[in-house]
This record gives sequence, C-alpha cells and structure tokens, in this order.
Amino acid sequence: MRTVTTSSEAQTIALGAEIGAELKPGSVIALEGSLGAGKTTLVKGIARSLGITEAVTSPTFTLIQQYDGTLPLFHMDLYRIDSLEEFELLGAEEYLYDQGVTVIEWSGKISQLLPASTMFITCSIEPDQTRRITIGET
Ligand SMILES: Nc1ncnc2c1ncn2[C@@H]1O[C@H](COP(=O)(O)OP(=O)(O)O)[C@@H](O)[C@H]1O
Ligand SMILES: [Mg+2]
Repeated sequence: MRTVTTSSEAQTIALGAEIGAELKPGSVIALEGSLGAGKTTLVKGIARSLGITEAVTSPTFTLIQQYDGTLPLFHMDLYRIDSLEEFELLGAEEYLYDQGVTVIEWSGKISQLLPASTMFITCSIEPDQTRRITIGET
C-alpha cells in the first residue's frame, strides 16, 4: 500500500501516468472517492501513459468510454448506476475480463463483480484541498 498527496491537477495526472506505466493487458483499476476527489484526473494520467491523446472526460450518458492506446482503455463511471443488475443488463461485465485496461469510477457499486486481481485506488480531499491518494488494498 502506498499513499501519495498531490497538490495540483498536474501532479495527480503525473501519478496516474506512473500507475498507467505498470499496467498490463487485463488490468482492472477500481477508483473510489467523493465527487471532485480526482478520480477522472487520475484516468487522464493513465490515458497519457497509454499514448492516448484524445481528451478524457467523465462518461456522463455513456457509462463506458473506450480509448485506443498502446492498450485499449475502458473508462467506466458508475455514478448513475443504481444496481448490480443494471450493470449486468448493460453488458458491461465483459470489460472486466477484456485484454485491455479497465478503470472504474464508483467501483463500489459492483464490488462483488471485481476480479481478485483488481488494483484499488482511493482518493480523498484534504481540508487544505490537496488530494490524498492511496494505492493498494483497501
Ligand atoms: N491535487 C489535485 N488532484 C486532482 N484534482 C485536483 C487537485 N486539486 C484540485 N483539483 C481539481 O479537482 C477536480 C477533480 O475533478 P475530477 O478528477 O473530475 O474528480 P472525480 O472524477 O473524482 O469526481 C478538478 O477540477 C481538478 O482541477
Ligand atoms: Mg469522475
């Protein structure tokens, strides 16, 4: 387990890029933390390390956004998902076993479905507005 404090969006992107450099085909990353904690910012860094130049935004209406990089990146934001059934009905489960990299914001909503090898990352906003980012077991 490793905890990093970032003081700017750029530092969080750099941390995401560092994490992204270690990813392999089939990697699943579960991102937890409140709105604005920096989850999407981390995904921007992961995308950068996979050579993706397309802008990464939160998938608002589409639950899953796919980007083509050195590995395919599947970015999910489950904020609007109400149940495990809804996730399964959308056919999203297959991405958890794809040979790309899958990064999931609000992953706690499907915690029962996450593969055993999932990397857990938790982001929180400190009183001084820095972000505390914990990588590893939760
Ligand atoms: N240290 C930091 N790390 C990440 N984002 C930060 C940081 N400091 C300020 N911010 C701002 O906080 C917001 C984080 O948004 P975002 O990554 O979309 O959060 P989430 O996906 O967790 O809801 C951005 O507007 C970003 O500019
Ligand atoms: Mg987000």
